[in-house]
Amino acid sequence: MTLTNRNMCTGISRRTALKGVAGVAVAAGFAPVRSATGQIAPVKVGFLLPYSGTYAALGNNITEAFKLYVEERGGKLGGRPVEYVAVDDESDPGKAADNTNKLVTRDKVDVIVGTVHSGVQLGVSKVARDTNSLLIIPNAGVNAATGSLCASGIFRSSFSNWQPGYPMGRVMVERGHKRAVTLTWKYAGGEEILGGFKEGYEKAGGKVVEELYLPFPNTEFQALLTKIAEIKPDAVFVFFAGGGAVKFVKDYHAAGLRKSIPLYSTGFLTDGTLKAQGEAAEGLLTTLHYGDGLDTPKDNAFRTAFEARGKGEADVYAVQGYDAAQMLAAGLDAVKGDVGARADLVKGIERATIDSPRGPFTVGKNHNPIQDIYLREVKNGKNIVVGVAAKALMDPGRGCKLA
Ligand code: PHB
Repeated sequence: MTLTNRNMCTGISRRTALKGVAGVAVAAGFAPVRSATGQIAPVKVGFLLPYSGTYAALGNNITEAFKLYVEERGGKLGGRPVEYVAVDDESDPGKAADNTNKLVTRDKVDVIVGTVHSGVQLGVSKVARDTNSLLIIPNAGVNAATGSLCASGIFRSSFSNWQPGYPMGRVMVERGHKRAVTLTWKYAGGEEILGGFKEGYEKAGGKVVEELYLPFPNTEFQALLTKIAEIKPDAVFVFFAGGGAVKFVKDYHAAGLRKSIPLYSTGFLTDGTLKAQGEAAEGLLTTLHYGDGLDTPKDNAFRTAFEARGKGEADVYAVQGYDAAQMLAAGLDAVKGDVGARADLVKGIERATIDSPRGPFTVGKNHNPIQDIYLREVKNGKNIVVGVAAKALMDPGRGCKLA
C-alpha cells in the first residue's frame, strides 16, 4: 500500500496516517511517503501530452527530456524514485477534462506534466485548479494558464503565448516592414501568439492589415497564399508548429513568395522541423526563448546527452520538458519528497533559479518563466542565435491574482 497526499481528503491528517501505517515519526521536518514495508514510495508523474497528430514530435521530445533529467539525478527527485503514466491527449480540447480527471482520480498522480496545445490546456488547467493538483505546463502558451486561470500549484516551464511574438514586432518595424498580414490556425495558441506579435508590432508603429486563419490542424495553404500575393503586404507573420510548420514553410517557398514578401514567425515554425524543411527554411528570422549555437556548457551537455538517447536532436520542446523536471525537482528537494507539504513545495519552485539549457531563469509571481527572447536566423539547417530581441521578458500575467 502506498499513501499519497490525497489521504488528506479522508479527514485523517496525512502525517497521522503515515505514523499509523509505517510507524515513521515525521513531526519534525519533512518526510517522503513510505509504504507499509518501509520502502520509499515513488513520486507518480502523469504525462498528458500529444503522442499522435501534428504535435506528436513535440510530446515525444518533452517526455524524453523529462526522463533524461530524472535519469541524470539517479532516477530520484527529492529522494524518491519516479514512476510515470502517460496519456495521449490527441491535441483534442474535447477530451481534455476527461483525460485530466483520469490522471487525478484513477491514476492518483502526484503531478501532471501537460500539455502542448493551448485549447487542450484550458481544460487541463481548469481541472487542475478545481482539484488543487500540482501541474507543470511544458509547452502550451495559453495566456490564461498563467493569467486568469493561474493557481498556486500551476507552473509553466515554457512561455506564455504573449512572450515569443511580442519582440518580433519591433524587429520587423526596424527592418522597414510597416504593413503586415498574419496567418495561423484558428485556435487559442495561434490567435494569442499573433496577438502578442500584433501588440508589439503596432506599439512599434506597424499595422496588421489582414488577419488570415484556417482551422487546426488543416494544411491546405494554397488559397491563403494566393490571397497574400494579392494583398502584397511588406511582410507576413505566421504561427505554425510541428508537422503543419514543415508543410507551410515548404509551400511558402514553392509559391515563390520568399523574395517578394518576407516571412517571419516565432521560432516554433523552425524548431524541430529544419531537417524536413531543408532549403525552404534557409534565411528565416524567428524569435524564441531558445536557439542553436548558444555554446554554453549547460546547453552543450544537454544536447549531447539528449542526442545520445538515439531519439533525435534536442529542440525547444526538449528544453521545456527537461526544465519541467528541474522545476519539479526544485519543489521536491525543498520538502525532501513530501508532496503533502504543498506550500513549501510551491515555495521551492518559486525561489529556484532553473539552470536551463536556454540560460538560467526564475518564474514570475504568476509562475511563468522570466526569460530572454532570442532573435534567430536559419543558417545551414540550424536556428542560429543572432541577437537578443528582448531581455528578461516577463509575461504581464493579466488577470492572475497570485500575490
Ligand atoms: C500552443 O498551442 O500553445 C502551442 C503549440 C505548439 C507550439 C507552440 C504553442 O509550438
